[in-house]
Amino acid sequence: MADAPRSFLFLLGSARHGGNTEALARAAAGHLEPEAGQRWIHLGELGLPPFTDRRHTGDGTTPFAEGPERIAQEATLAATDVVIASPLYWYSTSATVKTYLDYWSGWLRVPGLDFKARMAGRRLWGVTVQGDEEPDVSAPLAGALRLSAEYMKMDWRGVLLGYGSRPGDIDRDDRAQAGAKTFFEPGTETPGVVY
Ligand SMILES: Cc1cc2nc3c(=O)[nH]c(=O)nc-3n(C[C@H](O)[C@H](O)[C@H](O)COP(=O)(O)O)c2cc1C
Repeated sequence: MADAPRSFLFLLGSARHGGNTEALARAAAGHLEPEAGQRWIHLGELGLPPFTDRRHTGDGTTPFAEGPERIAQEATLAATDVVIASPLYWYSTSATVKTYLDYWSGWLRVPGLDFKARMAGRRLWGVTVQGDEEPDVSAPLAGALRLSAEYMKMDWRGVLLGYGSRPGDIDRDDRAQAGAKTFFEPGTETPGVVY
């Protein structure tokens, strides 16, 4: 997979369209190599139903996915690079991102899907925008994504962080825009938080 063209799945977690997080993710995606694939899914629009924990029900397996779940599952498995583009909501990811990640727990238990083995080695990235000017307040979001990547044996690539409140604010965050230029560059070093 290392030499194959990269295929990015951008999962937009804002509860609105055209917000700062999406704009920052699009700014960074604008610097991807032309051969890289890009798929964009607005999770609010996709409409995943609430996740149901079936681990200890019946035989503990998860039924095959249908509808929005199937779209999310197939897009995830088709990606070499999964980008969680979530605004900072209450110091964490948005609810739609959290629901999407909860589905991973179910996909681990779909017979024959081999979700964990197939996701191992793929890259996980984060993009977030927060209103607070104190960078550390997004540490819980960054930590949750990093630990999730580690659990899945994915390659954690760090978080691109920006500041904004009203849509368009991120265009004036020069540091975030500078970070966006190189954020998705392939590299061996994990950037941690870029801001
Ligand atoms: C439900 C909600 C919760 C938020 N929680 C935080 C927070 O905990 N910390 C923070 O700095 N900003 C918080 N904000 C501000 C957003 O992170 C900020 O406005 C961001 O630009 C919104 O993302 P968007 O422009 O991509 O939609 C919150 C906004 C909303 C709507």
